[in-house]
Amino acid sequence: MASSPVTANVQPVGEKPAETLSEHTLPARWWVSDSVFEFEKRAIFNKSWLFCTHSSRFEKPGDYYRFSFTGISFFIIKSKVDGQIKAFHNVCRHRAFPVIRKDKGSSVVLGCKYHGWSYNSDGKLTKAPHFDQVEGFEKEQNSLFPIRTHVTRHGLVFVNFSNEKDVTPFEEWYEGLESEMDAFDFSDYEYHMSYELDGQFNWKTLIDGYQECYHCPTAHPGLNSAFRMETYDVVPKTRYCRHYAEIVRNDQDETVEEESSWMGFRKQKSRKKISQKANPGGDFDGLWVYLFPTNGVNCYSPAWYSIRVLPQSATHTILQYDIYTKKGLDETTKTEFVDFLQKVELEDFDLCQFTQRNLNQGIYTAGYLHPTKERGVLYYQKLVGDMVQKHLELENKEKRQINPAAVAPTNAATNAASKLEDICSQIDCQGGNNTPELW
Ligand code: FES
Ligand SMILES: [Fe+2]
Repeated sequence: MASSPVTANVQPVGEKPAETLSEHTLPARWWVSDSVFEFEKRAIFNKSWLFCTHSSRFEKPGDYYRFSFTGISFFIIKSKVDGQIKAFHNVCRHRAFPVIRKDKGSSVVLGCKYHGWSYNSDGKLTKAPHFDQVEGFEKEQNSLFPIRTHVTRHGLVFVNFSNEKDVTPFEEWYEGLESEMDAFDFSDYEYHMSYELDGQFNWKTLIDGYQECYHCPTAHPGLNSAFRMETYDVVPKTRYCRHYAEIVRNDQDETVEEESSWMGFRKQKSRKKISQKANPGGDFDGLWVYLFPTNGVNCYSPAWYSIRVLPQSATHTILQYDIYTKKGLDETTKTEFVDFLQKVELEDFDLCQFTQRNLNQGIYTAGYLHPTKERGVLYYQKLVGDMVQKHLELENKEKRQINPAAVAPTNAATNAASKLEDICSQIDCQGGNNTPELW
């Protein structure tokens, strides 16, 4: 049996573990089991800070974007009331029809197309046809369900679905992240484009590959010839990891063989030069960050991009990429960046597709992880194991499912509904044990 990930020996920031063979992956069933995935929603996703987008995409009040993490549909909008960026569940308070029907748009009046209720850009109910005459109906009690939001000083927008009182504050969840991001001037970049990949694999299949470059010499020939793979390092921080690799500076004193590529990564003298082009980004070293559980922000000189890994089921995950290019960057360099990025991402995508097919067969159970080359994988899998274990203990103690994202009843009507909800819980309990078999 595989060793418990909860006891995995993950080193503190900046320290490298001794290269001792001791750690395994989590059990392979965690990559295929629907019950584990359902449990991960409650244990991880519904209480984690999740990166969504950048504030520069909200130019005027009413600008909104729709998202879906683990099946939870929500939207982020710039409020006309106070100019702040806010998030709401995409659920009408009347009978639960989705209020937003497009992936993006702009409107300071959000009208539900079912019975005509309307909300403003601050989520407040402004119109409920014929309910004005209904005694006891209070518009104030029927605003859209808000979602906790945090916008960093660099404009990175995060949400947290948890409605529990003890939500870990953003600054504590990702301690040190905001200052880490000071190394990059996000204000000098503008939104360029997005694209999406639809993968038949578990979200962890993607993150496994994302959190190491052990596979890069084998699987990314283009990347391998663009920077020094031997310098690649993944350093766990606080629920995020910083990735490093040595880059080429656009140094005029360097020999032709060391002239930088567009990406700015240093090529080895012995390697064949892949481009004569000068580095358009100057001497910025790059800032690549994995954000537990499923997101990444990767900053280069010509552009930065984000990846949202959106789990849909145990074996279905959507990957969404947003690319922001440096203001004033020429179209050719933009195209080169996008082409390069998409080539690497498609290589990773294929790795995930084929790996998951084998995981689905149930032959493989667990494998060794390299203590240094795969310590980013060890780090995030330990977080997954810890959060799942902790939540399982809580649910077992309270003998009920605990969904941190559940919204508490707010008025008399929902209090009545809550009594009926209790009946459902009792029926569910009689129907069987919902606790998943995790290990
Ligand atoms: S569900 Fe939205 S108005 Fe009825
Ligand atoms: Fe990769």
